[in-house]
Amino acid sequence: MQKLKVTGGARLVGEVRASGAKNAALPILAASLLTADDLILDNVPLLSDIRTMGSLLQGLGMRVERDGETMVLNAKSLLTTEAPYDLVKTMRASIVTLGPMLARFGEARVSLPGGCAIGARPVDQHIKGLQAMGAEITIEHGYVVAKAKRLKGARVVTDMVTVTGTENLLMAATLAEGTTILENAAREPEVVDLANCLNAMGAKIRGAGTPVIEIEGVDALHGARHHVLPDRIETGSFLVAALMTQGDVTVTNADPGSQDIVLDKLREAGGKIEVGEDWIRASIDHRPKAVSVRTVPHPGFPTDMQAQFMAMDCIAEGTARITETIFENRFMHVPELQRLGADIAIDGHTAVVTGVKELSGATVMATDLRASASLVMAALVANGESIVDRIYHLDRGYDHMEKKLAALGAQIERIS
Ligand code: EPZ
Repeated sequence: MQKLKVTGGARLVGEVRASGAKNAALPILAASLLTADDLILDNVPLLSDIRTMGSLLQGLGMRVERDGETMVLNAKSLLTTEAPYDLVKTMRASIVTLGPMLARFGEARVSLPGGCAIGARPVDQHIKGLQAMGAEITIEHGYVVAKAKRLKGARVVTDMVTVTGTENLLMAATLAEGTTILENAAREPEVVDLANCLNAMGAKIRGAGTPVIEIEGVDALHGARHHVLPDRIETGSFLVAALMTQGDVTVTNADPGSQDIVLDKLREAGGKIEVGEDWIRASIDHRPKAVSVRTVPHPGFPTDMQAQFMAMDCIAEGTARITETIFENRFMHVPELQRLGADIAIDGHTAVVTGVKELSGATVMATDLRASASLVMAALVANGESIVDRIYHLDRGYDHMEKKLAALGAQIERIS
């Protein structure tokens, strides 16, 4: 089991390059199922979740090649249309293979993802939408079994905003007969990036990034080359770490347009935020002020930044309220932050955080991807040495975070 050993106290100073967005790359990798041609992707992050998706697609019989941050995928023909439990259970985003496989091959068997640390995370909206498009779907032995000679365009209104639900239905609709309207669609930048890639492949999608997406089905999609957009959550994580350590960090290869509200919140914390074409600089020369946040679908404050802002509030001046409205159990970092000396009281879906002057190093355990990032960030400012355990969670969404932090001056190393 790998761990990170962190000695707190260093200011983060310098430049760090953001990798491609995990949550754009994952559905875009699945989009390769929609065409018999090569899909070439640049700026793909080197993450374990990406490797998992690559293994899943290879398991279907696809050609998947990787050269650094470029991947070439080809789904000319498949050996099977079954996404097996042993892979899906490690990464629930595997569910985004359901829509494209069904749309192109007329059938798909995808294991139900099962819950995960942050909540039950059902996929009922994915199924409801595909049924509305004419798919016959049954749940058999923990698998979603879907069949459709050819999907038909439909108007689908999801009960709630669902990111991968929108992505699954968006991909399925590209090859359906007729026009599909997705209402209550997710507006995340990663959905827009997927739509841009699909349109480059010959799809006819309008309205991505708004609550209503219209897709005119076509008979086939062709290959394309697509550059995955930068990861706004990794970017935000480094900017928060810069303010926590009273440092001065510039994130390059970034996408400033996709994180307005996060930048506003960093300014509210007292940070000086400068923005360029593809870079963002965060600096501060005093203790950050506590900022309250409430997670809602994009363009509101992202749930994937909640744990990181909580870490900052733990050492900020004042008291903040952090409300999580997307997932039912996304406060598992709280008891671990309390082990570092944080003053946090949970009241239902709200955590009340009172900033303390100092945290003290301890051994803590990562529980989910963004929680693990918040623990590393808290350890950066804690007195003495901390050990963050189970960092396989971190590796799912951050490309060698410890190397990037060490290059900014952090005292951090990976130990087994
Ligand atoms: C995506 O997950 C992201 N993952 C998550 O990022 C992110 O936290 C989440 O969106 C919210 O922004 C990827 O894009 C791969 P949802 P997703 O469907 O699509 C409920 C990270 O840290 N729901 O938008 O699985 C669901 O339970 C990860 O990178 C249903 O009830 O999330 C949740 O409460 C963590 N039925 C809410 O909707 C459904 O059919 C939003 O979930 C679908 C969702």
